[in-house]
Amino acid sequence: MKRAALCLLLLPFALFMATKIRSQNRAAAGKSVTTVEGIGASSLHPVQKAFMVHDALQCGFCTPGFIVEAAAFHDRWRATKGTATPSREEIGAALSGHLCRCGAYDGIFSAVAAACAGQFDGGESVELPSSFPWKEPIEELGDRTIAPEPTWETLRFDQVAVGDELPKLVIELTPTLIIATAIATQDYQDVHHDRDMVQRRGHPDVFMNILTTTGFAGRFITDWAGPEALIQAAGIRLGVPNYPYGEMTISGRVTEREEQPTGDRGTLTVEVRGVNKLGTHLDGQLTLTLPR
Ligand code: FES
Repeated sequence: MKRAALCLLLLPFALFMATKIRSQNRAAAGKSVTTVEGIGASSLHPVQKAFMVHDALQCGFCTPGFIVEAAAFHDRWRATKGTATPSREEIGAALSGHLCRCGAYDGIFSAVAAACAGQFDGGESVELPSSFPWKEPIEELGDRTIAPEPTWETLRFDQVAVGDELPKLVIELTPTLIIATAIATQDYQDVHHDRDMVQRRGHPDVFMNILTTTGFAGRFITDWAGPEALIQAAGIRLGVPNYPYGEMTISGRVTEREEQPTGDRGTLTVEVRGVNKLGTHLDGQLTLTLPR
């Protein structure tokens, strides 16, 4: 009975879609259809160059549709209005059938306006603005170890002394790391994954959330102490943000050692510090127990 009801519901929709496709086929009959592959095939279209310079995308999922629609609008506009700058409303009306789930609208609108105003005519290559940190050459890693292999041998409490330095942990800060860990820790604050929003708030880029920072501080400890180490407490203070395109180096040393009454484990306190190219990102103490 339920299935029959569903069919009764879907049928009109299917009929509607079939009619719509048929009418679109009729509308396209005898006409040439240009897809995104056809735009900029020989040389980049002004809209494509403008999208690059105005950072008009994040994940890029919606970009082909926006490029095709914006290029069509641009060509119509230039044919009738020359290099006048279209208003946000005029651009919005032209692109209204498209959605960007990443919210890259500021870049999209400014790109289309600039292209229509003729700022990207002629010339093949585009100069990406210096505010794009990824313009910097990727640093050659050379023989520097990024992160030591985590130990699978658990340290014994008696093997550790106050003043012991832990091996450094270097974390490469990428947009993927920052966004993925925010989502993985169910922190949907836009500053951790929405570049447009965070730039509107005056930050150069998305930045790492405290849950991820605390997680890396924990990893720093267990990579050194081993799988039987039990972290009891973490007191973390955040300093400068962890923005992408750089690295965070975590270092630390044992500051306290305390026998446990039961005698089979002991408690250690480790002072931890994480720095990036802007300064101290994390500062704090972690307490853990180790078997004797
Ligand atoms: S850039 Fe991601 S959906 Fe638009």
